[in-house]
Amino acid sequence: MHEKIEHLNKKIAEAQLGGGQARIDSQHKKKKLTARERLHLLLDEGSFEEIGMFVTHRSNEFGLEREKYLGDGVITGFGTVNGRLVYVFSQDFTVFGGSLSETHAEKICRIMDLAMQNGAPVIGLNDSGGARIQEGVVSLGGYADIFYRNTRASGVIPQISAIMGPCAGGAVYSPAITDFVLMVENTSYMFVTGPNVVKTVTHEEVTSEELGGASAHSSKSGVTHFSCANEVECINNIKRLLSYIPQNCEDDAPALEYEISGNEKRTQLNSIIPENPNQPYDMRDVINGVIDTGSFYEVHKNFAENIVVGFARLGGKSIGIVANQPAFLAGVLDINSSVKAARFVRFCDSFNIPLLVFEDVPGFLPGTDQEWNGIISNGAKLLYAFCEATVPRITVITRKAYGGAYDVMNSKHIGADMNYAWPSAEIAVMGAKGAAEIIFKKEISEAKDPVAKLKEKEQEYIRHFANPYRAAERGYIDEVILPEDTRAKLIKAFKMLENKVDVLPRKKHGNIPL
Ligand code: HXC
Repeated sequence: MHEKIEHLNKKIAEAQLGGGQARIDSQHKKKKLTARERLHLLLDEGSFEEIGMFVTHRSNEFGLEREKYLGDGVITGFGTVNGRLVYVFSQDFTVFGGSLSETHAEKICRIMDLAMQNGAPVIGLNDSGGARIQEGVVSLGGYADIFYRNTRASGVIPQISAIMGPCAGGAVYSPAITDFVLMVENTSYMFVTGPNVVKTVTHEEVTSEELGGASAHSSKSGVTHFSCANEVECINNIKRLLSYIPQNCEDDAPALEYEISGNEKRTQLNSIIPENPNQPYDMRDVINGVIDTGSFYEVHKNFAENIVVGFARLGGKSIGIVANQPAFLAGVLDINSSVKAARFVRFCDSFNIPLLVFEDVPGFLPGTDQEWNGIISNGAKLLYAFCEATVPRITVITRKAYGGAYDVMNSKHIGADMNYAWPSAEIAVMGAKGAAEIIFKKEISEAKDPVAKLKEKEQEYIRHFANPYRAAERGYIDEVILPEDTRAKLIKAFKMLENKVDVLPRKKHGNIPL
C-alpha cells in the first residue's frame, strides 16, 4: 500500500506542475499567474475539489502521443467563494498553450453539466491559444459542445468569464454568451482574427492590445464589462460581482443584515439638480445618495457612458440600477447605451434582481449614423427588455423624460410597478423650444419680433408641461416626492413589492429584436 500511496502522490505532484517548471517561470515572466495560483486566489482556503486531475488527451497525431500532461491544460472542479458553491475551470497555458483538445473540452462540459444540475454559478478563467491545432476538427467539436452548454445555461445559472491571456478565433464566443466578461489589462486579448490576418485583409497595422485588449473591449466594443489592472484585481472583481447575484434563477440574491433607521432622509439630494435645466450633473451623485453607502458596483463603466448600469444594495438587498447620465451626451439614448442597458435589464430579470431606474433623458440621439446603424431596432431592445421584465421595477424621474425615451425608460405603461418624480421633473413630448417652434410656427413667423414670440411660446409650453404634475394627474406618476425622501420611499416600495408575481403569456420564447 505504501508504494501505491507514493505512486499516487507522485502523480498528484506531476499534475500540479502542469507543463513543467520552465513554462511556469515563463508564465510568471509575462506577469501572469498560473492556472492553479488563480484558483487559489479565487476560492476559499481549502475549499477546492479538483475533478479530472489525471485526464490526458487521446490524440496520436503529429507525435502528440509522446507528449502528455496530466489534466490536459485545464483545471476543473468546485469550491466556495465566501461560503457559496461555485464550479470553476482554469485553463493552464503551460500545457500546449492552454489549447482546447477533445478531453480539455469534455472536462469543461462536465463542470457545466454539474453546475446546471446543482444550480450554482460557473466561473471560467480563460488563458488559451485556442483550438488544439494538432487535433483538428475534434477540437472544434469540443468548442461547439461548450457553446451549446453556455446557451442552455443562460438565464439558469450565472456564468462569468475572466480573460487572463489569449482568447482568439471562435473561442471568443463562449465568453460572449456568458453573463459577464472581465479582462486583464496588457496581458489578455480577444479577437476573432488577429493582427496578421487584419493586416492581410484590410491592410490595417494594429497591435493585439489595440485590436482586442481590455481597453478596446471595455470602451469601444463593449464586449468586456470590467477592465482590470491586474489578475488580483480581476479575481477580486469576480468575488464582488458574485456577492450581488444569486446562485441560480430560482434563488434570491444574498441579502445583508440591515436595520432601517427611521431616519433615511438624504438632504444632499435636494441640491443636485442645477437651476438651469440644460446644465449637466453626475447621476452617480443621485445613485450614491440613495443607496446603502459604498454599495454601488458599476458594470460596463467605460462603455456608452451616457447610461450608467450596475448593482447596488438598498436596505441590504441587491438591486440593479439603470440610469441616464446627463453628464455625458446629455444622457441621450443611442445604440450603444440601449444595448448596454437592455443586456443588464435582462440579466437582472433572469436572476430575480429588482430594477431601479433613474431617469433624465432628452430623447434618442438624432443623425444618419444612428439611423443607418439601427437605432430603431437597437432602441427596441431596451424597450423589449423592460416590457418583458417581471421583477419589481421602480422609476424615479429626476429631470427630463421626453418623447419615446419617456416610454422606454421603465414607464408605468410598460409595466413599471411604481413611478416617482422629483419636483424638477419635466415630462413632455419634447423640449420646450422645439415644441414651441412646431406648434406655434405660424404665429412666430408672423410676429413682429419672432425671437421674442418664440421665447414667449417656449415659456407657455414650459408652464404647461415642464413639470411632473400633468403626468401625476393621469396617474402615470404615483407620487411627486422630495429628493431627500427618495431613499425611504424606495426602501418601502421595494419591500411592498417583495412578493410580486407576474407571469408572461405562455410561449416558446419571445422574439427580441436582435
Ligand atoms: C497547440 C499550441 C497552441 C494551439 C499555442 N500552443 N497555441 N499548441 N494548439 N492552438 C503551444 C505552443 O506550441 C507552445 O508550445 C506553447 O503553446 C506556448 O506557445 P508560444 O507560442 O510559445 O507562446 P506565446 O509566444 O505566448 O504565444 C501565444 C499564442 C501563440 C499567441 C497563443 O502560441 C499562437 O498564436 N498560437 C496559435 C493560436 C491559434 O492560431 N490558435 C488556433 C485558433 S483557431 P511549447 O511546447 O513550446 O510550450 C481556433 C478556432 C476555434 O481557435 C474555433 C471554435 C469554434
